[in-house]
Amino acid sequence: MAHEELPVPVFTVLDPVYGHDYDLEEVQLRFQTLNSKFIEIYGGRPEIFARAPGRVNLIGEHIDYEGYSVLPMAIRQDAVVAIRKRPDAEKVLRIANVKDKYSMCTYAADPCQEVDLKNHKWGHYFICGYKGFYEYAKANKISVGEPVGLDVLIDGTVPTGSGLSSSAALVCSSTIAIMAVFGVNEGIKKKEIAQLTCECERHIGTQSGGMDQAISIMAKPGFAELIDFNPIRASDVQLPAGGTFVIAHSLAESQKAVTAATNYNNRVVECRLAAIVLGIKLGMKTKEAIYKVKTLSDVEGLCVSYAGDHGHSDPLFAVKEFLNEVPYTKEEIERITEEDLSTIFANSPTSLDVLRAAKHFKLLQRACHVYSEAKRVFAFRDAVLSDLSDEGKLEKLGNLMNDSHHSCSVLYECSCPELEELVKTCKENGALGARLTGAGWGGCVVALVRESSVPQFILNLKESFYQPRIDRGIIDEGDLGLYVFASKPASGAAILTI
Ligand code: GLA
Repeated sequence: MAHEELPVPVFTVLDPVYGHDYDLEEVQLRFQTLNSKFIEIYGGRPEIFARAPGRVNLIGEHIDYEGYSVLPMAIRQDAVVAIRKRPDAEKVLRIANVKDKYSMCTYAADPCQEVDLKNHKWGHYFICGYKGFYEYAKANKISVGEPVGLDVLIDGTVPTGSGLSSSAALVCSSTIAIMAVFGVNEGIKKKEIAQLTCECERHIGTQSGGMDQAISIMAKPGFAELIDFNPIRASDVQLPAGGTFVIAHSLAESQKAVTAATNYNNRVVECRLAAIVLGIKLGMKTKEAIYKVKTLSDVEGLCVSYAGDHGHSDPLFAVKEFLNEVPYTKEEIERITEEDLSTIFANSPTSLDVLRAAKHFKLLQRACHVYSEAKRVFAFRDAVLSDLSDEGKLEKLGNLMNDSHHSCSVLYECSCPELEELVKTCKENGALGARLTGAGWGGCVVALVRESSVPQFILNLKESFYQPRIDRGIIDEGDLGLYVFASKPASGAAILTI
């Protein structure tokens, strides 16, 4: 059976989850600590643990929310949730963290509560999963009874603001933990959890696509995954021998939820506007049709058939023909749509925030990025499947990663000076390819490096990129391993009854 059709696995021991790329003794100690801390805080043992990993995206950036396939892999860093139903009748959710810097968050056991976006708290990510669980149960007529109080303790090792999906790891592990503690996990397929966690993370205010949750739930050790959407599907991608992905933090924090109106959600809105303008220019007439256009993949068919009429096959032909290089003002777009943008986006308060914050919209550049990046994902997969030598494959993958970074940086403008410096440093030190990974505007770079040169590569990065920052006191030398490390494809989400 395709693995997206299966439920999240339940294990009674740690080996199947952590046996691949981990120091098992360290993992055991981590769970013991979690257990004893839980008892210390709540006076009793957790009923269940659930864990979900972070991810590194190898290629396919900012295209999942446009409906296009992406190619990430899970990393070993994860979020673990320990949970129990409260033994008394108090209807409260207590969410604690093993790290002291995250103080305990308390919420009412009310699945209909709104997430307070003006007052961002780390516990909100648990609430996203909590709401998502009840929304799913209601939609699927699963009886879960009256809400009860929950005691929760979380331990996350995915660095926050790193572009490695600490938020999805937390939302996914929380959702699965809640399903497990209510005893309904066996009946729910991974693809349904991927879909529901993607939707419920939007309660935090970002209009993110489904990549992070899909890979966190569906990853398999040893494989990257090609993730398709509508419907969600994961296909294993075996990476060529001789290459290793090194992840390196730019040390600029990427605060996706906090900067949504000017960064992440802004790009989602720009893409929709580009799609609407293209749709109109390519003959869409009725208001109904225009309102229906949500993504660039919705109008790709029109672009391709226009290109076909002119002896081309690439949707970019239509993009270059119909969209202007000069950024559009709101008024210019409204002259084309003959409709107020605030009416078109009336159902999406976070999009209205974008419209209020933006001065202009770069439609040509964003569409060029999305259509070209979508192609690179398949070129990457095809290179892996080709009969090239491993060395030939690695070179090809590296070049595609470089092209992806260039497009993210120049067309999508989701890079930043620290990421640019780090990508350049990686290339100067022999990476076959290097690119920003995740949403960007800070966070990590992923570099493809020949396996034999990984230790030297990391030393060189330390010397040229990190040492000056260690000297300036930005990070401690002893923590370097948290910021730069080689990563193998790790396992996906799991429930643990240990
Ligand atoms: C974030 C989002 C993902 C995806 C990436 C960019 O990680 O959560 O859905 O859009 O950014 O590729």
